Amino acid sequence: MDQINAVYQGNFDSLDNIQVSPLSRAYTFSDSIYEVIPFFRGVAIGYNEHLARLQRSANAIDIDVDQSLVSKEVSQLIESCDYENGYVYYQVSRGVDQIRNHIYNNNIEIEYFGYVKNHGFEDQKFKVLVCDDIRWGRCDIKSTSLLANTMMMNQAHQKGCNEIIMHKFGYITEAGASNIFFIYKDKVCTPKLNNNILPGITRSMSIDIFKKNGIGVIEDDFSIDILSQASKIWLTSSTKGMAEIYDIDNLKHCISNENALFKKCKLAFNKSFFNL
Ligand code: PDD
Repeated sequence: MDQINAVYQGNFDSLDNIQVSPLSRAYTFSDSIYEVIPFFRGVAIGYNEHLARLQRSANAIDIDVDQSLVSKEVSQLIESCDYENGYVYYQVSRGVDQIRNHIYNNNIEIEYFGYVKNHGFEDQKFKVLVCDDIRWGRCDIKSTSLLANTMMMNQAHQKGCNEIIMHKFGYITEAGASNIFFIYKDKVCTPKLNNNILPGITRSMSIDIFKKNGIGVIEDDFSIDILSQASKIWLTSSTKGMAEIYDIDNLKHCISNENALFKKCKLAFNKSFFNL
């Protein structure tokens, strides 16, 4: 792989050269939060929104994050690379313990780590597996604790799928690494936010873009069964943009190829998200 530019504790270096202690609480407890900040033609997409969500995640787990440092390092990573389109992965952990202990020491030095990666934002299509949402009760925090997501996504992968759609008590939550939208009875719908859903930046940008283009969005609790009657279903995330689902492994569906409302949404989204 080409060299990946990274930063760890203020030192910029190639990702290969960065060494982290196995006693990092990110490693032992997933006591860490992160953001994935996309950039297109050298310009970050939703920069302020990503930094604001990192702050909310930090507040939720009581990490006193240095926002100006994060902002400086994210910008420097974007400037340091020689490609125009990509994303920055940025992670903040509580720090490195002297010895593993559930109770943390308040004087521990916060650990800041990030890298920049090229990414094409090509259109992707997804086949999904519907599964029970077995994650914890605070999925609104963007924590690196993603074991349930990886378990379910790998089960899906074994069935030839590349994403999942989760439901809790029969209600749609989100996908493994993205939020969900669908068209039902010619209306754009998305599950309303709660503690079981990550408030995606692309989700909220989509809603704003659609509304500005005269397309209403219904945010509500939706039963998983409604997806069998959806004419279009798509996922949103910082790296996927707006990505169509073409098949569901374990749910009968009526997803159609052509859909005028979806086309309108996608055109408006691409124009605004990528600032074209
Ligand atoms: N994932 N829900 C989950 C569980 C996610 O992991 C993500 C993003 C989203 C979409 O959020 P946003 O629009 O802010 O990217 C929703 C990132 C991209 C990742 O973990 O790679």
